[in-house]
Amino acid sequence: MNKIISKRKLSEGIYRYTFENKELAIARKPGQFLILRVHDKGERIPLTIMDSDSEKGTVDIIFQAVGKTTNLLSDLNEGDRILDVAGPLGNPTLIENFGRCVAIGGGVGTAVLFPVLKALKEAGNYVIAIIGARDKDTLILIDEVKAISDELVITTDDGSAGTKGFVTDALNQLIGRDDKIDYVYAVGPVVMMKNTAVLTKEHNIKTEVSLNPIMVDGTGMCGSCRCMVDGKERFACIHGPDFDGHKVDFNLLTQRLKMFEGREQESMSCGCEKKEE
Ligand code: FAD
Ligand code: NAD
Ligand code: FES
Repeated sequence: MNKIISKRKLSEGIYRYTFENKELAIARKPGQFLILRVHDKGERIPLTIMDSDSEKGTVDIIFQAVGKTTNLLSDLNEGDRILDVAGPLGNPTLIENFGRCVAIGGGVGTAVLFPVLKALKEAGNYVIAIIGARDKDTLILIDEVKAISDELVITTDDGSAGTKGFVTDALNQLIGRDDKIDYVYAVGPVVMMKNTAVLTKEHNIKTEVSLNPIMVDGTGMCGSCRCMVDGKERFACIHGPDFDGHKVDFNLLTQRLKMFEGREQESMSCGCEKKEE
């Protein structure tokens, strides 16, 4: 179980793994995530289940190596096993025939977007995808997203591919077109989700975002993923990860993501959980 059968580097520091886990492949639904551990003394980290094949019994994840655990994970190779994987966790994304949808992925958030986009298309929606990244080298999943969208808009911050600007600039242009947008789903950096929600609120467009607070147990027990939504305390692992973007307190989420910054840096330099020599 959890044997990596394919490792692909999608861009600098971003990897796609396909690993064996039949039960997870059968049970998961779009929008759900897993929590894995790479090392028996290591922390648990949440990653979205990007895709699965229930016949082959395989699950796909895409991750960006940003800190201790994601770097340890990126050291694994084909044939290695991920130590343990819990899931599927979180609520599946609400998928309906909303009509005309815009699905937005910022940076590695495009990996989180992919299963939702696929499900929105399968539910009969007209789906316009916007994917954005810093530059042409950090864009991911262009062909995969193109294959399942009615329209694709690409943006880069530096203009090296697609249109120059942020994903929210592209959304603003789409809102300016004649066709009415019924639904927006956005996932990526917190500031991107916040600015998307500000824009769609002005135009009264229903908007869901997928939140990424720090998670530990993923079962509602530890409280680390606490968010405020519509003035109420919510745990993203059991009440989310999707929430109404117009009701999320994004400033609190930003603050809480910085909570362990010092300890994360210490842990990167200590080397205590590197593979046993
Ligand atoms: P750390 O040393 O813990 O942190 C390094 C840096 O990453 C710090 O700046 C820290 O503030 C930031 N960070 C830590 N945890 C998170 C977090 N939860 N979200 C955002 N930034 C964080 N990442 C992917 O690459 N692919 C995914 O599909 C994916 N899906 C996710 C789904 C959910 C439901 C959640 C909550 C997060 C998801 N993430 C995803 C983010 C991923 O969990 C973090 O990048 C990871 O936990 C970082 O662990 P680390 O030990 O490598 O880094
Ligand atoms: P990035 O910083 O390169 O940004 C990606 C895109 O987001 C940009 O190209 C731009 O189009 C948009 N964006 C950035 N700042 C914006 C702003 N101020 N206003 C409007 N749009 C803006 O992204 P990255 O380095 O690939 O990092 C990915 C981010 O996604 C991380 O912050 C990570 O925490 C987050 N993430 C979220 C989830 C989740 O479940 N929500 C999962 C994985 C990663
Ligand atoms: Fe512990 Fe959500 S991760 S309560």
